[in-house]
This record gives sequence, structure tokens and C-alpha cells, in this order.
Amino acid sequence: MKKISFDETMLSSFCSEKELETMKNDALAAKDTLVNGTGEGNDYIGWVNLPENYDREEFARIKAAAGRIREQSQALVVIGIGGSYLGARAAIEFLKPSFGYENAGGLDIYYAGNQLSTACLRHVIKLIGDRDFSVNVISKSGTTTEPAVAFRVFKELLEKKYGKEGAARRIYATTDKARGALKKLADAEGYETFVVPDDVGGRYSVLTAVGLLPIAAAGCDIDALMAGGQAAREELLSAPFETNMALRYAAYRNYFYRNGKAVEILADYDPSLHYICEWWKQLYGESEGKDGNGLFPASVDLTTDLHSMGQYIQDGPRFLIETVLGLNDDAEPILIKEEPEDLDGLNYLAGKPLSFVNDCAAKGTALAHSQGGVPNSVINIDGRDAFALGELFYFFEFACGVSGYILGVNPFNQPGVESYKKKMFKLLGKPGY
Ligand code: PA5
Repeated sequence: MKKISFDETMLSSFCSEKELETMKNDALAAKDTLVNGTGEGNDYIGWVNLPENYDREEFARIKAAAGRIREQSQALVVIGIGGSYLGARAAIEFLKPSFGYENAGGLDIYYAGNQLSTACLRHVIKLIGDRDFSVNVISKSGTTTEPAVAFRVFKELLEKKYGKEGAARRIYATTDKARGALKKLADAEGYETFVVPDDVGGRYSVLTAVGLLPIAAAGCDIDALMAGGQAAREELLSAPFETNMALRYAAYRNYFYRNGKAVEILADYDPSLHYICEWWKQLYGESEGKDGNGLFPASVDLTTDLHSMGQYIQDGPRFLIETVLGLNDDAEPILIKEEPEDLDGLNYLAGKPLSFVNDCAAKGTALAHSQGGVPNSVINIDGRDAFALGELFYFFEFACGVSGYILGVNPFNQPGVESYKKKMFKLLGKPGY
């Protein structure tokens, strides 16, 4: 990998190379099962070769549509939930960070249909105000309640503002290529449509139109993103266990799970990584948490959460492992100035950049957590750029497929997600429930 690396140095006191060797055969077998398509869920492994064989014609249409959205609108509402939105948000917040303060640079991106809050929907409508806006509604099934409800609201707003035909030119639907309510509606109303491939599930879909259209509309380089995915694919499919970071990460996770660990925390030291952690939680949680199995994927934003969750991580039950997302950022440095009177006691840092303080916090915390009994490793991202992110996305997806097969589950279904829907539909009075 060119821009992503796995620093496992601090794991050695919890799992020696010899102990990891005991996982090697399982990891290699799981990789073969995934790549050869011989495991359960093998009809959902289209993402494995996607960076190589993606639909070039659709890719060009995505770029054209993104350009049109930027020309015709000041705001884009991205409607989707779970795998139909987290990848795009993870990418946009990483590549065009707003840190919750203002916009993504040129085009404001708002997310809707990822919960059912009235106040939140009202807030997004208010933020759009009188400005021109477009909508990208994303739903593979086309029937998920949260995005479907939000889409009704924004469709009506668009039609009021631009008329039916004008609205249709501002609605972009990403859904199944042939089936489902959204596809039917899109065809009837004349929306431009993009495809969620049959063989790619929601949480593995960030490098399809699901992620690519909003990411491109936000002004990010999707060619570089796919190139990163492709570079990761080439390496992870061919590298031997000893140097294959996806196989090793998957092997460690399962080693620790077999040895009593129950929770993996993904920790970041930059708020722009928050949604990458959210995306990762869905990927690993939905892929592995089934049949009574799986590490619980949690995340913390540091150093913020050291002042809330730090105590538990350092001193609570020892069922945790921690994986840190390290970021080598090129933000313009902020230097700490010398004060004539050292009232706050910070003069010992005079002349040092803020990033040095953050790095020391990360290294010190890893040491403390490790000494406190939490196996600690780091996934380093060398630069805030689309290529690095493409590598990271593919790395986590590939490792997840392998890890799920080592665990002995089908990493590509999510039967448990249906349970709440059935109960909710019954309460809502949906026909047939
Ligand atoms: O990963 C998954 O499959 C889910 O998180 C789905 O993406 C999510 O439930 C949304 O489904 P849909 O795209 O059908 O609206």
C-alpha cells in the first residue's frame, strides 16, 4: 500500500508473531473463500473486483451529474441511511472537512433520511432556505422507511419551487438497476438514475454510485479514490500473510476475540475522521455481529473522549482492543507562542506546532492504554487525499470479508436488521404486518 500502513509494534506483548502464526492458515483460507467466491454470501462479493471492473460509462455520467449539481445548486441533500449514506459522509467529511462549522466548499451537503427526527428535518429545510438545491436519494431496496419519508418531503419542496419537470432535473436516484419502488418512481418521473450493483451490499458500496455521486458533487477527486481502491486491491489480493496488512488485521482481531476480547474501539485524533469510524462500525457490526458472534465495534474521538471515556478504556473491564487511525495531515501548522509571563505553564511548548502536541497525546495514550491491558495498533493514513482514502476503504472492506469468514459467519447478510422493522411496521399499521 502506498499511503496506508499498519503499525502492529505494540501488539507484540499481547500476541507474539508465533501466536499470530496460529491464525495464518485460517486467514489464508478465509481469503481464498472470499476471493474464489466459495463462501456463504458469495452473491454479494462484487465489491472485491469493483476498483478494477467498475462501469466506466456510469462513472463518466456520475462526474457529469456532479458537475451539473454544482452548477444548478448551492446545496445538495443526500438522502439515505446505513450503507447508503455513511461512505459518502465519511469521504466528504475527511476530504473536505467542515468540522461541523460550515460548508464542504462551494456546495453545502446536507444529510437527511438517516433518522426520523422532525427537528432535524426542519433544521435542514431551514438551512437550505431560498437557495437552489438538488437531491440525491439513495436506496438499494427503494423501500427503507427513513429515506423514503425524507424523500417525500424534499420532492414536494422541489416540485413547489421548480415545478414537476424542474424538480425532476434536480433529483438523482441511486437504486437497484431494475427493481424496487424508487426505481419505478424514478422511471415514471424521469429522474436520472444510478445503479447499486446487485452483487454489492450497502456497507460495501462506497466505491459505487452510492458513494461516488455525492463525493464527486462535493468536489472530491473520484478518479484518485478509485485508483487508491485499485492499488489496495492489487496488493491485498497478492501479498503473502507476512506483509498483507488486511490478513494480519483480520487475524489479530480474531486472535483477540478467541482470547476473550469483546470490543474493538476505533480511535481517531482528528474530528474529520469521525464518520470514517461511523462507516467502519457499520461495516464490521453488520458483517460480524450475528449468530451470537463478533467483536462489538465502538469508536472514540480523541483527545475529546479521553475526558469522558478515557477512564473506562484505561481502567474498566479488560475486554477491549484499540485500533487507532493515525493521520499525517498537511494542514498549515499553528505554532505555540512564547508568553512573557508563563501563567498557563505552556512556555515549555513554545515554538512547537499543535500537531506535535496531538502526536504526543496519541503516542502517550497508546502507551498508557497498552500498559493498562488494551492491545493497541495504528492504521496510518499518509495524507488527507482521495487516493489514501480509496486505499483505506478497500483495506477495511477486504479485511472485514476475511475477518468474517475466519469468524465463521456470513459477512454479507444482515438478517437482524429486519427485526426492528417488523415491530415498527406493526405499530405503524403497515398492511401485512
Ligand atoms: O448495509 C446495508 O445493507 C444497510 O445498512 C442498508 O444500506 C441500509 O439499511 C439502507 O438500505 P437501502 O439502501 O435499501 O435503503
